[in-house]
Parts: sequence; C-alpha cells; structure tokens
Amino acid sequence: SEALILAYSAIGDYDDEVLVPEPFYANYNGFAVQAGMHVKPITTKAEEGFHLPKKEEIEKLITPKTRAIAISNPGNPTGTVYSREELEMLGELAKKHDLFLIGDEVYREFVYDGLKYTSLMHIKGIEDRVIVIDSISKRYSACGARIGCICSKNKDLMKALMKFAQARLCVPTLEMIGATYLANTTKEYFTEVNQEYQKRRDIVYNALKAIPGVVCEKPTGAFYVMAKLPIDDADEFAKWMLTDFSLDKETTMVAPGAGFYATPGLGKNEIRIAYVLNEKDLSRAMYLLAEGIRAYRQAKGL
Ligand SMILES: Cc1ncc(COP(=O)(O)O)c(C=O)c1O
Repeated sequence: SEALILAYSAIGDYDDEVLVPEPFYANYNGFAVQAGMHVKPITTKAEEGFHLPKKEEIEKLITPKTRAIAISNPGNPTGTVYSREELEMLGELAKKHDLFLIGDEVYREFVYDGLKYTSLMHIKGIEDRVIVIDSISKRYSACGARIGCICSKNKDLMKALMKFAQARLCVPTLEMIGATYLANTTKEYFTEVNQEYQKRRDIVYNALKAIPGVVCEKPTGAFYVMAKLPIDDADEFAKWMLTDFSLDKETTMVAPGAGFYATPGLGKNEIRIAYVLNEKDLSRAMYLLAEGIRAYRQAKGL
C-alpha cells in the first residue's frame, strides 16, 4: 500500500490522472488522492473475463494530465491475468504518450491452469517506464506486515522515490526481520498453496456456473472471482443475505461489486468472492449463496 502511494507521489502532480482498469482494488482511489491525483477508469467487462479493451479505447482516455496506467496483475477483484499481448499493448501506449506503467504484482505467485506469468518487467523497450510494486502480504499470508517494495530501472525515478522513502523513515523492524526469514520459504510451499487455491477456484467457479443467469469467465489468478448475478442490486442482496437469509443458521457474506468501479452505476449486480476458506466450508458457502440467490429472487419477484 505504502509503495503505491510513494509511486504515485513520485510521478504525479496535483490534478494529474492515472488510468486504471475497473473494477479495481478500491484503495487505488485513496492512494491516488493522497498523492493529489485521481483515478480515471478503463472499463472492463465480466463477459470478456475483465480483459483489457482495444488499444484505441484506452487511447481515447489519455489526456495531457495522464501520468500512468496502473494495473493489478493478477487482478483484485477480478482474478484476471493479463496476457503478454495486453502488456505489450500498454507498453506501446506508454511509449507513444510518455506514460509510466505501474504493475501491482502482489499476487504474481497465484496463477493457475499452468499459465506462464508475464510481468511488466518482461516487456522489452519500456524498461525506464515500468514500476513494479511487490509485497509480502499475499505471498506469505502476512497481510498485517507492512513490508513491500518498489522496483524500477528508471534511476531518476528511484532517486525521487528515495526522497519520499527517507521521509517515511523506516519499515517496521520486527516485520523486516520476519520477512527476511520468509524469503527462505521453499518452492514446494508455493506449489502446494497454488494447487490448493486452484481447487478452491474450481469449486467457486463451477458453483457459480451452475446458478442460472450468472455471468462469470473462469479467473486464472489471485484468489478472487467477480460475477454478475441475476439480481438488481448487489449492495441490497449482500445485506439481505446477512439480515434476512439463513439455512441452519448459516449464510454467505459477499462483497458488493459497485465499490470496485469508479464509473457510477457499474457493478450494481456484481459481487466479489474471495476464495480464502477451506474446500468444505467453501462448498457449503457456495451452496448457501445459490440458495440465497434463489430465495432473494423469489422474495423480490425477480
Ligand atoms: C491488488 C492489491 N494491491 C495491494 C494490496 C495491499 O497490500 P499490502 O498488504 O502489502 O499493503 C492489496 C491487498 O488486498 C491488493 O489486493
């Protein structure tokens, strides 16, 4: 989080813009605002697996105030992993319009179906425009630890960042010591974790596909699924699941989609599911969700 704020602070002036594919991690708004900038959304769609629109669509959004395009890859809340072609397309835009590309790659180990992960750092010819953000919080399930980093081959940018970092004084000492040990984690650990999350992804995706009227492409990364439901208002539905619905005193809590969009009105019938439960609890949660959708539609006459 702090790395993102520092990156925005180093590249932007007051009122500058950063283009971000929406739906996006909601804190991106706050991070940009803290640096005096604001997010301008590149709208992506559930029907297209939240992949990027055509280059011309993105280009239309670029103005003299645009400083950067920022992506979360793999994506929170979408679970989308961008292809090399998509990243190369962003690279072409960055070169043409003199932009930075910020890659929030905190989920880069969480990629499924044998996909080969491409980092923005792998794209040739844009080395001085790329800023990669990393963190220990997802990789080692250490979300409370405030340890992350900013990587860039742009020396001037790194000099500017150093000034901000010096004003930040220091990362927490105990967590830094802990993080040093975590760096020794074996490859087997990640293989096991990856297999486990892929199983969970399949449970959630298959359950969603079995619900009539749900729109959802299979996500290939991170631990999130974003789905369009056959309901009118996901805020209302999420609340109703907690206040009005229960089966054997159990229900499922979901994150309503609208909060992940900057464009008003979008995501109203979408939800995000984080598949961070064990297989048994997750299967039960998905059963409750399916039953909840059925009961909600009936109660609301949908
Ligand atoms: C895409 C993305 N970036 C950054 C963060 C924040 O990471 P950290 O805990 O390292 O501040 C999160 C946390 O959920 C995230 O989903």
